[in-house]
Amino acid sequence: MEISNKVALVTGGACGLGRAFCEMLLSYGAKVSICDLDSDAGENACDVLGQKFGKERVMFCHCDVTDYVQFEEAFQTTITEFDRLDIVVNNAEIMNDKFWELEVDVNLNGTIRGMLLALQYLGKDKEGHGGVVINIGSAQSFRPQISTPIYCASKHAILALSKSCGDAYHYNITGVRVIVLCPGVLHHDASSSAFGNRFKSPSHEKAWQLDMKGVHPQKCEHVAKGLISIIRDAKSGSVWLIANEKAPKEVPYSSITM
Ligand SMILES: NC(=O)c1ccc[n+]([C@@H]2O[C@H](COP(=O)([O-])OP(=O)(O)OC[C@H]3O[C@@H](n4cnc5c(N)ncnc54)[C@H](O)[C@@H]3O)[C@@H](O)[C@H]2O)c1
Repeated sequence: MEISNKVALVTGGACGLGRAFCEMLLSYGAKVSICDLDSDAGENACDVLGQKFGKERVMFCHCDVTDYVQFEEAFQTTITEFDRLDIVVNNAEIMNDKFWELEVDVNLNGTIRGMLLALQYLGKDKEGHGGVVINIGSAQSFRPQISTPIYCASKHAILALSKSCGDAYHYNITGVRVIVLCPGVLHHDASSSAFGNRFKSPSHEKAWQLDMKGVHPQKCEHVAKGLISIIRDAKSGSVWLIANEKAPKEVPYSSITM
């Protein structure tokens, strides 16, 4: 899929990696709907990116991905404003095992809601003309993260959801490619002073140090560049790792023979 003149909806698009995705998509000629719970950061991102790329190409929708009705309104508002929708990036997250039920509701259930809405509005068997869904996993989708087991579980589940929905069986019906992009650790998080507050207990900080051993944080812009090639060329159901500032690498999904 070429990016130019397509319309993308990015959840958690106000900050961090989501914002870098929005900027990269705009720089390749897409129109972008920034969907986020944080209205101040979202309006600000919309203003700044609007000045750089044109106000008519970027909009902000206040949207809590834990609320299906609000999330659906964001899809409808985006389609009304831009007249189409082609790309959905399910990126919103919290990483805080202290609030694990909310964490699962945002990271996993929020991705499921975004996935179902994308199939409804993009699926050629429903209201759409096909498209692409990118679900954001993590390097922790493939391995344990001992400091934040529940965050890690939510990211593992995103892999299973996306592999199943992205299977050729579904793609042939919906025309919607479903792909997982799994970033390694990003710069902005590793340097956050609030980071220690995200663990269930102080002893988990030691576990975080073990998890981070040998990890090289990367810039959000690097991962965002990888998003473009994945949207253009990746097969439905494929899984991509972008870590340590390296190029996107397709990761085989191991299957256990029974
Ligand atoms: N930061 C890392 O090192 C890292 C590593 C691997 C994967 N990831 C993944 O990359 C993605 C982005 O991570 P990030 O570090 O940029 O996150 P971030 O915390 O910087 O930004 C998350 C965004 O999601 C928004 N958000 C939170 N709850 C929401 C809700 N209920 N509804 C709508 N929006 C909501 C926030 O307001 C924020 O704008 C996530 O899926 C994350 O799991 C991050």
